[in-house]
This record gives sequence, C-alpha cells and structure tokens, in this order.
Amino acid sequence: MSTKKELRIGVIGCGFMGRTHSNAYNRIDNFFPALAYTPVLKAVCARNESKAKAFAEQWGFESYETDWKKLIAREDIDAVDICTPNDTHAEIAIAAAEAGKMVLVEKPLARTLEESQTMVDAIEKAGVANTVWYNYRRIPAVSLAKQIIDSGKLGRIYHYRANFLQDWTINANLPQGGEGLWRMDASVAGSGVTGDLLAHCIDTAIWLNGSIKDVSAVTETFVKERMHQLTGKVEKVGIDDACIFHCHFQNGSLGLFESTRYARGHKALYTFEINGANASLRWDLHDLNRLEYFDYADEGIVRGWRSIHVTDGDQPYMDKWWVPGLGIGYEHSFIHQAADFLKSLEDGSPCSPTFREALETQKVCEAVIESANTKTWKEI
Ligand SMILES: NC(=O)c1ccc[n+]([C@@H]2O[C@H](COP(=O)([O-])OP(=O)(O)OC[C@H]3O[C@@H](n4cnc5c(N)ncnc54)[C@H](O)[C@@H]3O)[C@@H](O)[C@H]2O)c1
Repeated sequence: MSTKKELRIGVIGCGFMGRTHSNAYNRIDNFFPALAYTPVLKAVCARNESKAKAFAEQWGFESYETDWKKLIAREDIDAVDICTPNDTHAEIAIAAAEAGKMVLVEKPLARTLEESQTMVDAIEKAGVANTVWYNYRRIPAVSLAKQIIDSGKLGRIYHYRANFLQDWTINANLPQGGEGLWRMDASVAGSGVTGDLLAHCIDTAIWLNGSIKDVSAVTETFVKERMHQLTGKVEKVGIDDACIFHCHFQNGSLGLFESTRYARGHKALYTFEINGANASLRWDLHDLNRLEYFDYADEGIVRGWRSIHVTDGDQPYMDKWWVPGLGIGYEHSFIHQAADFLKSLEDGSPCSPTFREALETQKVCEAVIESANTKTWKEI
C-alpha cells in the first residue's frame, strides 16, 4: 500500500486544457515516483452530463459533476484546477479559495487586470497554495535558458524578442463566440492575441529577463464583423487579431514582441531570442527540445550558433524521462508543472508563477491594450 499523501483534485473544463492537465496527473506516479504526494483524480466537471461522464471514464476520474459550484463544495476535493474559458476564471477561483481549496488556474489569470487583482486578493486572503499554468517555463530547453541566463553567461542583456504566430482565423467566414470559438469573443476572452498568446511570451520574458518598465503597442482587427455562434447575428469583433509592441525592461534592455492569428503558414510558432554582450540564446516551439546558443568566448574558427539537444540527464527535468538523445513533447510541460506543484506542497514553497507573479503579466497585457488604444507609451 502506498504511503504517499493524496492530493484530491477536481478539474473544471473538459476541453484542450482539461485533457493536458488530466494527462499530466496520470503520468506523475510513473515518472516522478519520489514525490511525497500522489494526485488523485477525484472529479471532473463539464456542464453536459454525457460529456462529463465520458471524460471521467476516459481519463480515470472517480466521479463527475455538471456544476462547478458542487465540485467546489465537495469535502473530498483538496485542489481545484480551472481549465475553462477566461471569463469564468475569477468567479471559480475566488469561490474555490473562499472554500479553502488550493487553486490551479489556466492562463491568463482573467480577462482584465481588475478581475485578476480580485483573484490575487482572494487567494492571498485564503492563504491557499496556487499556481497559474504558464507551462512553457517547464519545457526543458526553456528551463535551461533560464539556468544559463541566471549564471550570467550572457553578460549585459541588450535585446529580447518573441513571436507567437498562428493563422487559424484568416477566413472571414469563421464565426465568433460559443463552444470552440470563445477566443474570438472579447466578452469571454478579454482580449485577442494579447491575452491568449502574448501572455505566454510576456510570462517567459519576465521570468528570463526581469520586469518590463513600459510598452508601446499597435493592434489590428483585420476582420471587423463576424457572425456570433450563440446569437446567430453578425456582430462587431472586439478582439485584437494581431498585436506588436516594443518595450523597455527594467535591466535596460529593449524588447520586441509580435503575435497574430493571420501569419499564413504558422500554426503555433512561439520563438524567443535574447542577446547579451557575451552570448545569445534562441528557442522555437516547433523544435522544442533544442536550445540554440552562441558564445563569443568560443575560439574564433569554431565560433557559431550551437544547437543543444536538451535531452541529457543533467539538463532540466530530463533525468525523469528516457535515455539521452530521446526527445519529449508539449504535453510534458504540463506534467512538469503538476510535479512542481506537488513538490511545492512537500517543501511548503510557492509554485511559480503564483497568482501574484502572474499578475505582472496581466499588468503588461493591460498596458499593451491601453497603449494601442491611446497610441501612447504606457508605464507598467
Ligand atoms: N497553457 C496553455 O498553453 C494553454 C493552451 C490553451 C488554452 N489555455 C487556457 O486554458 C483555458 C481553457 O482553454 P481550452 O483551450 O482548454 O478551451 P476549450 O474550449 O478547449 O475548453 C474549455 C472547456 O470549458 C468548458 N466550460 C465552459 N464553461 C464552463 C463551465 N461554466 N463549467 C464547466 N465547463 C465549462 C467548455 O465546455 C469546454 O469544454 C483558457 O483560459 C485558455 O486561455 C492555455
């Protein structure tokens, strides 16, 4: 019989993220056997009963609910994991915190800074463990970038640039809103690519390169009206289809960020590059096991970009997986975050990014939108 402590989890939302998180909890005991906690999939919640039941069976949940309030009220749930669209995050997270549950929430924290602040206040008042799923931090190559930057190898940082490019909304006949298309509806999503995609880029940037001081942004909505799936009416599109901003970081470096859903040919091209006086790093989600590194200290005749295949046991998280040289995937970033959350309970330490830390990303997103709307620089 296992001597592990149980963390009884309730997952709310059975979509894309419901699947990545459920998969993550299911992998923990196999690949992180030394953890003191074991995740127990107590209940999952979807509004549609047959969907909730089927999801529970498929992913190994003991039970299901069709109302998140019932899930939160259950005494056999320790942690609530929110995998629903952005407009639900604040209400669910605040209710869960008030019920004394630990809270894990998908990014962005919420639609607006104001909503996000109420979540931080509630979580800190309740004093419960919390984390926000900015999962890209836990891709081993990205974690290795952090390790290299923190070691000082890059020297003074001059530039940070990131892109997150997609092409799935180019068709002007694509409707907005409703199941599967809530990202197109500003009242549900809060914003377009800024909160959805740039939030990831901003979180990684702050983690790697420190706080952002001020921003200047431009946004565009290429398709101005779309049919709303729920009302059946043609309605104004309120989201930003594309956003470009530049910024100053507190460390004096310059940042350049671009995101769009109109870059034909790109599905999810998240890339970043950081340039220091001595060395540079770059990373590409489409080749996520690799980190590229240029070191000016190398001997001249062999100096050049090296491509590090981040699959060795002494590189972040990789001792948990296969043998050196064998890659892992997107889903592993969620497994790593779930494992880090369980470890944080063992250590009594916070699991980054906490709600408080994720609020910083929210501040930047809000400033980016305000800057674009007012055509002015905005201080963070
Ligand atoms: N970390 C990442 O890389 C990443 C990737 C995708 C999405 N996300 C975030 O995850 C969240 C969910 O996105 P998704 O892609 O999984 O969306 P999705 O549309 O695939 O799934 C959302 C699910 O929530 C359900 N839902 C909506 N309201 C509900 C309610 N009141 N009670 C129960 N279920 C409800 C929907 O029916 C749907 O099944 C969003 O906040 C999004 O920004 C993060």
